Amino acid sequence: MNNTHTSRRTFVQTAVLAGGATMLSTNLASAITSRDDRIKVGLIGCGGRGSGAAAQALAADKGVVIWAMADAFQDRLDSSLANLAQSESKERVQVPVERQFIGVDAIDKVLPLVDVVLLCSTPSFRPAQLAKAVAAGKHIFCEKPVCVDSVGYRSVQESVKFAREKNLSLVSGFCWRSSSPERALVAEIHGGRLGDVVGITATYLTSPLGTRPRQPGWSDFEFQLRNWQHFNWLSGDHLVEQAVHSIDKINWVMGGRHPVKCTAMGSRFCREDKPEFGDIYDNFTVVYEYEHGPRATMIARQQASCYNDNTDWITGTKGYAWINGWAPTHWIKDYTGKTMWAYPKDGPTPNMYQVEHDTLFKSIRDGRSMNEGEFMADSCLMAIMGRMSAYTGRQITWEEAATGLENLTPASLVDPMPVGKVPHPGTTHVGATTS
Ligand SMILES: NC(=O)c1ccc[n+]([C@@H]2O[C@H](COP(=O)([O-])OP(=O)(O)OC[C@H]3O[C@@H](n4cnc5c(N)ncnc54)[C@H](O)[C@@H]3O)[C@@H](O)[C@H]2O)c1
Repeated sequence: MNNTHTSRRTFVQTAVLAGGATMLSTNLASAITSRDDRIKVGLIGCGGRGSGAAAQALAADKGVVIWAMADAFQDRLDSSLANLAQSESKERVQVPVERQFIGVDAIDKVLPLVDVVLLCSTPSFRPAQLAKAVAAGKHIFCEKPVCVDSVGYRSVQESVKFAREKNLSLVSGFCWRSSSPERALVAEIHGGRLGDVVGITATYLTSPLGTRPRQPGWSDFEFQLRNWQHFNWLSGDHLVEQAVHSIDKINWVMGGRHPVKCTAMGSRFCREDKPEFGDIYDNFTVVYEYEHGPRATMIARQQASCYNDNTDWITGTKGYAWINGWAPTHWIKDYTGKTMWAYPKDGPTPNMYQVEHDTLFKSIRDGRSMNEGEFMADSCLMAIMGRMSAYTGRQITWEEAATGLENLTPASLVDPMPVGKVPHPGTTHVGATTS
């Protein structure tokens, strides 16, 4: 693996500065560099989601060509490329060895070659990658979460602003926003069907994610990056990495209004005490409080052999709404139990991941840029403030999370990088770098 010794802090700072410096530069928004109809796409992060996103980009537009790929590890890039090379659109997967780049800053080599980037790597790198992509004038698909700490949040906010100034399309990986039943139900709520929303309870109860035991020759950094979901500095913990989908639905239903504060609990009860399980918790409960009265509760768990559930229960002054995206079931009832609205059983349910890419590439073709940056950043900050509260045992305000100095990235990525201590409410402080 190349460039493992890059200081991540330097990487982040450079990228933020690069974003600012190019504010006044030529607007590259519509710079589809090919002379023909092709849209050259670069994939950053060739894991499960990145490979899926590349396939969806290919399906979204007949002119899309996967033109360059980057990953921290050669084996991840190789397996992703091998899969794409067997896909229906394999003739549009054109990534010879000279357009394959390895290393944590391999994005730098991809950006000059492409029109669009798919940012699908480990979340901690996303703020810097987003800043670089915007600075280079590229259209962007940006997976969630987009940041894992306060410093990352503010970097993303800046990038979102610059992307808008440059008319770049920026589509978020908060995929439920592209799901037809969810869209229809939230539109009903925003149209007043529920009256005023007074409370939301959301669950994300699921099994633990896989791990990769340490192999001979791996540095501490490689070991952690191979197990990134389990390290707070890389993933933001599972509340930020996974349950953020449900937190985004809360944010969506609340119309983007910020909670003023939250109180959370969490712990690590079932995860095995092995290094590859990192330093994260396995359960969280967060209560978000809104200035005008409502409360939203998020319950998240990653524990084996338990009841799994991913639903949203939204209470309004006129009734209640139920979202079960896994079922799928979407309805609104009044307080007599009468159904006021339900998504039709035969209603359209196009693949939400595909819809994201259809939307992105259509916006590029039409020259009508779109920018989903605000909710993309704010939903992540909601998750971050929940984690801060659970880790510290303190109530955390939006203001503190948004303006704080928390930067989870270790100052150096060189050995030794011991596995961080599991946070302990009451003694852990906000901003503690856990690795
Ligand atoms: N929207 C969704 O439903 C959904 C589903 C799954 C994952 N995701 C998100 O997608 C992202 C990737 O998840 P995944 O499941 O594909 O994980 P993964 O581990 O399969 O893939 C991540 C890849 O990024 C690579 N990588 C790490 N740092 C990099 C860097 N600086 N530059 C280039 N590559 C780098 C890793 O080596 C790995 O191959 C995460 O943010 C995750 O939360 C979203």
